[in-house]
Amino acid sequence: MAYKAPRGTVDILPAQSGKWQELEQLLRTICANYNVKEMRTPIFEHTELFNRAVGDTTDVVSKEMYTFEDKKGRSMTLRPEGTAGIVRAYVENKLYGLPEKLQKIYYMGPMFRYERPQNGRQRQFHQFGVEMLGVESPYVDVECMLMAVTVVEALGLKNIQLHINSLGDQESRDAYREALQNHFQPVLNELCHDCQVRYEKNPLRILDCKVDKDHPMMKTAPQTIDYLSESARAHFDKVCALLDDLEIDYVVDPNLVRGLDYYSHTVFEIISDDPKLGAGSTVGGGGRYNGLVEELGGPQTPGVGFAFGMERLMIALGDEPQEDEGLDVYIMPLGSEAKDLAMQIITMLRANGFTCDMDQCDRGLKGQFKSADRYRAHFSMIIGEEEVKKEVVNMKCNHSKEQVEVPLENIVEFIENHYEGDHDHE
Ligand code: HAM
Repeated sequence: MAYKAPRGTVDILPAQSGKWQELEQLLRTICANYNVKEMRTPIFEHTELFNRAVGDTTDVVSKEMYTFEDKKGRSMTLRPEGTAGIVRAYVENKLYGLPEKLQKIYYMGPMFRYERPQNGRQRQFHQFGVEMLGVESPYVDVECMLMAVTVVEALGLKNIQLHINSLGDQESRDAYREALQNHFQPVLNELCHDCQVRYEKNPLRILDCKVDKDHPMMKTAPQTIDYLSESARAHFDKVCALLDDLEIDYVVDPNLVRGLDYYSHTVFEIISDDPKLGAGSTVGGGGRYNGLVEELGGPQTPGVGFAFGMERLMIALGDEPQEDEGLDVYIMPLGSEAKDLAMQIITMLRANGFTCDMDQCDRGLKGQFKSADRYRAHFSMIIGEEEVKKEVVNMKCNHSKEQVEVPLENIVEFIENHYEGDHDHE
């Protein structure tokens, strides 16, 4: 049987991993810039955590989770998103008790959703996410949005829009829930079975139903923004005013409700019209979740955050090959004695911090020079029988094409002295 990666998963091969590392490095630099620290949480959690946090009427929980029983019969789930685990860890480790009230956390890693795979949608995908816990201020909402905008700008993504909306506080959401029920009540029997359940349990979720999305009543449904309480309205107005002051372009999108249940107040998405992704695809999204910490057993603590799909960022970045640094030295031994010596030298060079490799295929010079080229080696080090006898190596600089004999004891010094240009081998 020929084994294949499971549907909806991909292998990131060595030729692509450099670009992933570059993306990760850039994201880490932005996090340092915003004083956001990394947190790493388990890939699987108790299923109940996601039912609670994400909500059991959402598609993510009701249709897309990878859930299994462990050997003791406990129900576990591969995380479909990062916020629930971060908040669980925040509560469990009592991070709310730290002297710094605003905890700013980021994470990167694989998430799992049983969805229909397509361009930019996988069953195992990666998210980069940020959560800011402890402060309710609209300034923190805007700090999150700024960070998300910084990410897409730093990546040079074009045709990007920031969409924002507000779901309001509990009072606003209760009023909105009632308005939605009144709106859909006359056509309830025309909606799918799931929507009939949602109507009772969580009418907001009717709005992201994939089956009923073209029902005429969808277009005329009431909008959250018209049901905001006075204080929720003030919060949202301040968010908009701050974005205006900072000259950040945004669109108020009254239809934006997000697909997870924990949100309150501000929600936002970064939408890309990049043709590589398909018009109007969401590269990232997030919002405020003021009830979630309490829902998961912690003290009343506000939170706000966002996550990007890293595959979507990679697609939008395009696939120009990534230029890696190139090796410092490629060692080319000819014959078995030379190979023994090469092993000694490569070990010594690596211990001195140089990046190097050597031929392990016993090829002739031509083949070995091709490898030196492919690895973009700064120096090729040729060791033949003659060199072994004389206790020297032949160093060819692949930039200046200069070739010199160097005594074994002077190799490190030679490389250091002859390193030219801006190539830093430290
Ligand atoms: P989300 O909108 O469900 O939010 O996911 C965030 C991003 O993950 C999406 O915008 C998309 O780019 C990417 N994504 C989601 N599903 C897939 C998939 N199947 N394949 C590839 N990419 C995907 C959340 O997960 C929230 N936890 C965000 C958040 C953080 N809200 C507050 N804090």
